[in-house]
Amino acid sequence: MATVKMILTVLYLLQYSCFGSDVNCKQGDCKPIQDTTQVFCECHKMFRGPACIIDYTDLEDKINGMVYKPVPDLTAIYFSVKELKDFTKEIVESVRHDIQWTQIFVKYSNVTEKFRNISTLHTQLKNGTITQRHYVSEVGAEFTGGSSFQLYLTDFHHMMMGTGFGDKHNILDIFRKSLVQDSQSQSGEPVECTKYYSDQIDYFVRYMFALEKEAVLAWSKYLLVTGKSENIDLLEKIFQDYVSQQWRLFNKNGCGPLKAGDLQNSHCEKLYHSTAQQQVKLKCGGSHKPFPEIVVCSGGQWSASPVCNEEQVNGRVECRSEGGATVCKATCSSGWGSATHPEPSEYKCSQPPCPSFIPHQCNNCTQNSVCKDNEVCTGAFGTCRDTCQVRSPCGVNAKCSSSSNHGSSCTCESPWKGDPYSGCKSQDLQWVHTRDVPSNAVRSKTQLAVCKAIGPDGGWHSGYVNSQSCNFEYDGKSNQASNYEVLVDPCGGRGWIWVDGEQGNMVSYDESKRFPGVIYFVCSVKSDGLVGKLFNTRNGFLCHIPRNGGTKDGSFYALVPQPCL
Ligand SMILES: *[C@@H]1O[C@H](CO)[C@@H](O)[C@H](O)[C@H]1NC(C)=O
Ligand SMILES: *[C@@H]1O[C@H](CO)[C@@H](O)[C@H](O)[C@H]1NC(C)=O
Ligand SMILES: *[C@@H]1O[C@H](CO)[C@@H](O)[C@H](O)[C@H]1NC(C)=O
Ligand SMILES: *[C@@H]1O[C@H](CO)[C@@H](O)[C@H](O)[C@H]1NC(C)=O
Repeated sequence: MATVKMILTVLYLLQYSCFGSDVNCKQGDCKPIQDTTQVFCECHKMFRGPACIIDYTDLEDKINGMVYKPVPDLTAIYFSVKELKDFTKEIVESVRHDIQWTQIFVKYSNVTEKFRNISTLHTQLKNGTITQRHYVSEVGAEFTGGSSFQLYLTDFHHMMMGTGFGDKHNILDIFRKSLVQDSQSQSGEPVECTKYYSDQIDYFVRYMFALEKEAVLAWSKYLLVTGKSENIDLLEKIFQDYVSQQWRLFNKNGCGPLKAGDLQNSHCEKLYHSTAQQQVKLKCGGSHKPFPEIVVCSGGQWSASPVCNEEQVNGRVECRSEGGATVCKATCSSGWGSATHPEPSEYKCSQPPCPSFIPHQCNNCTQNSVCKDNEVCTGAFGTCRDTCQVRSPCGVNAKCSSSSNHGSSCTCESPWKGDPYSGCKSQDLQWVHTRDVPSNAVRSKTQLAVCKAIGPDGGWHSGYVNSQSCNFEYDGKSNQASNYEVLVDPCGGRGWIWVDGEQGNMVSYDESKRFPGVIYFVCSVKSDGLVGKLFNTRNGFLCHIPRNGGTKDGSFYALVPQPCL
């Protein structure tokens, strides 16, 4: 029984095999549908339809998927790189002054040009400009006689990796170097990690991968339509391997985001934006200053977490790196301080991006030396103010003037006299030419106004006013003069005093013409208050008064000025 059944199965298979049926599975296996006599084509990958016809869309998706995986963010560029040829020209021209770059492009121009050529043909095929037959002959012509596509792909790989004969750097590093040098020589501004820089790097990286992928797609298409699809798997493998290696290399030495508040060249974000030993000269916005001035990418890390800060007037900000953190200390210069921050302030940032900061102000003086010459500091943490306004050492009726070296001096304000430091409290008595007796005239205790007139010797002699004449003693006789001066007191009576006997600061008015060297003072005799002139005689100080009889009196008051405040 069992043997019979087995034989029957074999018969079935023979009967229902695809041989002889009108189903023709081009790229697939013919499979029976169970319990029927029908068969179907189970298609190999990338083939579709009842007869397993080539499905190019699938192939494209697959290759795209492959390239997107190791190289993210490329989707956009694959659709935007429309004219690869123009872009190549643009890249070459943007850095044509750089010899190394030019050499690389010349060296690998056969590969890039070939890849561009078949990509263009592929685009023309897809948009219907050329037929499939035309495509096959053109692409085939590109690779006859010379190297096969795989050799070109390997060459391209060498260019990307910098592993070709005589190569020293991978193509991204060469491009980066040219970009930095070229821009710096033109503007003098740092170009590293600017928007321009990262845009150029992005575009370049995407372009290179796009060109590689477009070429692989074009060649895959050629293999498909020429019936060599069995080679596609190997091509895919090589391509995937190359792209992964290239992408890893481009990202291998990068330091990632370089960021800080107010940092202007903060556009290095991706790993491939930077590379080992790359130095970036930092630039902050506004009047901010960067720390450090230059960061270096090394071992996958920037040498410091940068920070931008406002400069400190009358002080300084010193930053340092401390195990990945950035610590800045703001101190005031000697003589300066801050009332609100008496101690130096510290700004610490443990991880990037560090915010920018404005250090506290050093706007309070602590020493006179930081103030202007005519100013002093008002306190321990004070303000520079005019010396005289802060502390005038002057007394009443005295004027303060600030002098150099933060000092000041005082002078009496006219007509006040005295010590400007203790106060200018007196005014000079004044001789006034008049016939009347002013109300503020200096009077004796008997109310006689003090006057002086020119005597026969041509000098002044003091006496008292009576009947609009000045009565004075001269040579032992009484004299009258109608032309005289009256002694008045600007202080209205408080600026003088009669003091018993001769005094050191008596009011004098002339030197004697008759006895050179003898000084005349004002005096008034005690007995009747008559006013006369006092001078030192052989018998001591005597008051000489105009009266009959004894004109010399040793019992007298001397007139002494006194402060009137
Ligand atoms: C690319 O195509 C142009 C013409 O379309 C041809 O002259 C040139 O030689 C080709 N380049 C390469 C490297 O084959
Ligand atoms: C097809 O693609 C080629 C190459 O990119 C282009 O020059 C041509 O204008 C396109 N034609 C159409 C009809 O889109
Ligand atoms: C491209 O040209 C260079 C030298 O000009 C040569 O070494 C290299 O083999 C060429 N590449 C291919 C794939 O023919
Ligand atoms: C510190 O200086 C500022 C600006 O000059 C001033 O306004 C402030 O009053 C000063 N502080 C003290 C305590 O004097």
